[in-house]
Amino acid sequence: MRALIIGATRGIGLGLTQRYLADGWHVTATARREADLPQLQSLGAKPLKLDVTLPSSIMSMEWVLAGEQYDLVIYVAGILSRGPATAVPTQAEFDLVMHTNVLGMMQLLPCLAPKLANQHGKWIAISSGMGSIAEAQSSANWLYRVSKAALNMAIRSAAFDYPAVTFAALCPGWVKTDMGGPQATLEVADSVQGLRQVIAGLSLADSGCYKNHLGHSLSW
Ligand SMILES: NC(=O)c1ccc[n+]([C@@H]2O[C@H](COP(=O)([O-])OP(=O)(O)OC[C@H]3O[C@@H](n4cnc5c(N)ncnc54)[C@H](OP(=O)(O)O)[C@@H]3O)[C@@H](O)[C@H]2O)c1
Repeated sequence: MRALIIGATRGIGLGLTQRYLADGWHVTATARREADLPQLQSLGAKPLKLDVTLPSSIMSMEWVLAGEQYDLVIYVAGILSRGPATAVPTQAEFDLVMHTNVLGMMQLLPCLAPKLANQHGKWIAISSGMGSIAEAQSSANWLYRVSKAALNMAIRSAAFDYPAVTFAALCPGWVKTDMGGPQATLEVADSVQGLRQVIAGLSLADSGCYKNHLGHSLSW
């Protein structure tokens, strides 16, 4: 089985890479910095340089990955933006968060979705419960919330145009990573174990779903 994990240098992406490798998968793992590629190679992954905010980097995937096929693509790359709705983002802040968390995945879709084992395969976006409009209980990290709600819609929409691919937006829980912080409730290994199980259990009938790492459906 072959997986492409986008945003694999740290945290959940690194944990997913280690887990799939341990399960015997062939994993292509991406880093945006050259200096992070040897780490991925030493784990046994095929390292790939990709910055999802650089159009040239996105466009290069067409020829760099020519002929490749995957069973699973996981879009993990993401950045956090803190602040409530009274903290108005600058255009630069808005563009960076939306570019990293949403546009990068949207732009990779036409190149990578056809590589999903003749269109049969799974496309996972690591979303967040903070992307749920129905379950919002505060305005904390509002730009990040906006980006994950948009990511969710991108996943839901893509399911219509690639009907043989299983799409899912998955929340990993609150995880102890650079983004989640030390006070988070989940270790990376536990989140990754849950995500792995949820992903394995997804079928085409689930395409366009929004779930957490325990497999519970989340409200949009
Ligand atoms: N941790 C949590 O509690 C939590 C909760 C809900 C959702 N999530 C989501 O889970 C995903 C992973 O989060 P994490 O906690 O593992 O965060 P993290 O430790 O901060 O890792 C973020 C990853 O995204 C990559 N990335 C950032 N900008 C990129 C770009 N322009 N191009 C390519 N890769 C880029 C980073 O690469 P570099 O090393 O090069 O920066 C890194 O590998 C994110 O989408 C996040 O929103 C996390």
